[in-house]
Amino acid sequence: MTKPTRRMVLATFIHNSGAHPGGWRYPGAEAVDQHDFKHYARLAQTAERGKLHCYFSGDSQGYPHISGRDAFAATDYAGKLEPTTLLAALAVVTSDIGLIATASTTYNEPYALARRFASIDHISGGRAGWNVVTSASDSEAHNFGRDVQMDHDDRYARAEEFVDVVKALWDSWEDGAAIRDRAAGRYFDTAKVHQLNHQGKYFKVAGPLNVGRAPQGHPIIVQAGGSDAGRGLSARTADMIFTAQSSLEKAKVFYDDMKMRAAGFGRDPATLLVIPSVQLMVRSTEAEAKRADEELLALIPEALSLRTLSLQLGFDLTGYSPDDRLPEIPLTNGGQWVQQQVIAMARAENLTIGALARRVSVSRASFSLSGTPEQIADMCETWFLQGGADGFSLSPNYLPGALDDFVDQVVPILQQRGLFRTDYEGDTLRDNLGLARPENSFVLDPTLGSEPSMWR
Ligand SMILES: Cc1cc2nc3c(=O)[nH]c(=O)nc-3n(C[C@H](O)[C@H](O)[C@H](O)COP(=O)(O)O)c2cc1C
Repeated sequence: MTKPTRRMVLATFIHNSGAHPGGWRYPGAEAVDQHDFKHYARLAQTAERGKLHCYFSGDSQGYPHISGRDAFAATDYAGKLEPTTLLAALAVVTSDIGLIATASTTYNEPYALARRFASIDHISGGRAGWNVVTSASDSEAHNFGRDVQMDHDDRYARAEEFVDVVKALWDSWEDGAAIRDRAAGRYFDTAKVHQLNHQGKYFKVAGPLNVGRAPQGHPIIVQAGGSDAGRGLSARTADMIFTAQSSLEKAKVFYDDMKMRAAGFGRDPATLLVIPSVQLMVRSTEAEAKRADEELLALIPEALSLRTLSLQLGFDLTGYSPDDRLPEIPLTNGGQWVQQQVIAMARAENLTIGALARRVSVSRASFSLSGTPEQIADMCETWFLQGGADGFSLSPNYLPGALDDFVDQVVPILQQRGLFRTDYEGDTLRDNLGLARPENSFVLDPTLGSEPSMWR
């Protein structure tokens, strides 16, 4: 086999005690307190031992509720550490791995968020990444002064402006602006510190940021929406897109579309990395893998799987029988890509609600595979070489075993095949992803932010 010229990106998407709703109860899982920092430190260190590019902490700012307060009592969804706080702590117990956290453009302000991620980038020496989400549930809206969430496309319009403002804030200090000239008594070269004077539809921000330019220039931008509006945002602004794809065929269509959209914005398509989230579990034989799948599935009560499906569809199915077929479901104002994928899955395979709920509650609309290390490496290789992915974000279904096994048994195979690097090559996450450090927009265009000045 000819050695591939591009190398696979590998990330791990850590859910509190595992991506599988039954993961925390699995006999092979360690009983952890989802607020215990040591748990996450160990996982990040394991991922770093495997030379993975990044550790990703997802987030939402609400307690999901469908049909009452007990709906998700069988899961660990409710309690978690705030992810940017977690990243700052992980930065000091790791040295190379990228650290990515979700933060919402709907329930934040650009200045505060730009500051937070620039700070993590400084603290970590250039390893920060921001997963830009627009948030997709009314349960989050309820915590931020709204009865229902903003309309889907308005959320994305706000996100477009939000990301632009954040990037401009990250540029508001040029490299070398802090001169610290002791003799002259000048700490900053103010000619290198810029105001944005941004006034848009959603935000009015003077700037400059009160954090100097970050080691990566811009922390890595990730986006995970799959609707037309979500893809547009990624294609224009993101370095990576995390996505849920249930088959190689679907992944290829998505991959081609994202690369084409990036080119449509005048970008080199190789600078937008398409990274499907996958649930992979290693066992030494196929029979053992099948048994582990069944044991895990048995830990998801039927009521929970129905509620999980309802959440993904944005439609309450708890009044339906598991033997019913899916009714007509209106387009949700929540997450549209996953909803459409799940509906298509049900129709294509003529699944009952119960069967669909079991499938969706295990891995949402993502691909999952339990198998031998070779089978898992083969899958990664096939998707990577056949144009379905630039890499993968492993969602371990239980912890720490599913991550340990991937790092110890699958990564070495990918390395032997020349598909994955054997060590970190650069100092920053951007270097390790092979992405260039962005030029400073104020240097490129000295007229930026000049009029009208909000500086008095
Ligand atoms: C792999 C992956 C990870 C995601 N992580 C988060 C997250 O941490 N927080 C969140 O609110 N949404 C998350 N999402 C949801 C998306 O960001 C997005 O809000 C959702 O897919 C709806 O967008 P759409 O209507 O464009 O599909 C994730 C989606 C995927 C595929």
